[in-house]
Amino acid sequence: MRSRYDQVMSLSLRRGFLFPSAEIYGGLAGFYDYGHLGAMMKRKWEDLWTDYFLSLDDNYYLIDTTSILPYKGLKASGHVDHFTDVMLTCSKCGESYKAELLLEDLTEKSVEAMTLEEIRTFISTADVSCPECGGKFADPSQFNMMFPVAIGTAGKDKGFLRPETAQGAYLNFKREYEALRRKLPMGLAIIGRAFRNEISPRQGTYRMREFLQAELQIFFNPKTFEDRIPREETANDVLRIATAEGKRKNQIDEVKVSEIVDEGVLPLFFAHHIALVQRFYHKELGIPTEKLRLAELSEEERAFYNKIHYDIEVDLESLGGWREVAGVHYRSDHDLTGHEKGSNERMSVMDGGERIIPHVLELSFGIDRTLWAMLDILYTVGERTVLRLPPRIAPISVGVFPLVNKAGLPEKAREVYRVLRRSFDAFYDDAGSIGRRYARMDEIGTPFCVTIDHQSLESDDVTVRERDSTDQVRISIDDLRTVLNSLLTGVTKFEELK
Ligand code: GAP
Repeated sequence: MRSRYDQVMSLSLRRGFLFPSAEIYGGLAGFYDYGHLGAMMKRKWEDLWTDYFLSLDDNYYLIDTTSILPYKGLKASGHVDHFTDVMLTCSKCGESYKAELLLEDLTEKSVEAMTLEEIRTFISTADVSCPECGGKFADPSQFNMMFPVAIGTAGKDKGFLRPETAQGAYLNFKREYEALRRKLPMGLAIIGRAFRNEISPRQGTYRMREFLQAELQIFFNPKTFEDRIPREETANDVLRIATAEGKRKNQIDEVKVSEIVDEGVLPLFFAHHIALVQRFYHKELGIPTEKLRLAELSEEERAFYNKIHYDIEVDLESLGGWREVAGVHYRSDHDLTGHEKGSNERMSVMDGGERIIPHVLELSFGIDRTLWAMLDILYTVGERTVLRLPPRIAPISVGVFPLVNKAGLPEKAREVYRVLRRSFDAFYDDAGSIGRRYARMDEIGTPFCVTIDHQSLESDDVTVRERDSTDQVRISIDDLRTVLNSLLTGVTKFEELK
């Protein structure tokens, strides 16, 4: 039997979700392209994400910023000095590895929290050698993961491809604060590409060198933000937390938001937002409760800019267990303070009668990782092969078929298709048996199929079939657009039509 990874990758390649980039030239490690279905799914995911997170507050907006950033900006943010991974290089064959991943594979011990010196001591005592040639490793070194760029014809201006979209929001903070009439909290969201020269890209889209992020930076006054949080909204949400200690024992604690806040474990603003992110994965993306956990990062594990850091992890059979797909980060005033020093521009603002440097809460999502997670978890292979994507994210919303390829049915079906195509991502198919056509749509997650049969010619109605139950109802052609629209947006449940 094929591994889960192979099943998901096969679906992606055969049907057009995902392809290795520049494949005809042998590909390039850490780079993937989205095919026609993947690109549609990605666009719909981004729309859903934008609707969900920007509606959290009237003062949250989407911006769009450049991928190349100046050296000075990334020096001030700390990335030039700290955005590093520990690299192990074989002294015999020259192969390089990300120390954290290799040592975990070879010794089953985590070195994530170790310093360079501790890793050096660790490899000298542990019996580890290069998996490629068996050679010994040279001393571990720090490797900066940013891609440098030489700007201009003489290449005199140094810059980098952005390692996170977040920086665009910090660099535009002052402009937006003025344009948005000086109000906190203020949210700036960016969806775009980020670039990291990962030492060991692997596992499909999990560790890429060019990838997609959707990040919301919430700028707030730490003295007043808590008062703005609608605490009742998430008070009873149950968070599935794996503490830094619990992760090692594979233990998940289920705690209500109100409890974790009352016990002083997390501030309200953080617990509330992590609950909203958890809800997004469960309710909007269809990730089952037991497949998601909120993993706390200890002081040694978290990114250099974070004061509180929880990863959203999803249990993925294709990648061998819990994998990070997103993060909620309290970055304090690290970023604006750094940019104030680096640029000599004042980043402080007047709020509540005093001058403050706003703090930042960051909701950060890996789009590629999340899309992969959805393909892994929602794809069932078996007697019926079905991809149970939420209707809003399915690349094709509705398939349209004539029951048979004669007796005027294709003509009528094309007529219906032409009407639906104006409002929905519709797909017309008359090749093969009706069963095969349903199966092809099920495999790519199409939630509804419309079939035109002999009766349609007389009574001007069609059958609508639901992917998950395979149940069918008859709907008049006049009502079809309205009905499909309310099914796709979740206003009506399919059972209610019966
Ligand atoms: N602005 C904060 C930030 O960038 P991060 O944890 O480094 O934080 C955020 O990245 C998310 O971006 C991760 O949770 C992950 O989903 C995604 N991500 C990070 N590195 C990635 C890579 N090499 N390939 C694919 N996705 C990646």
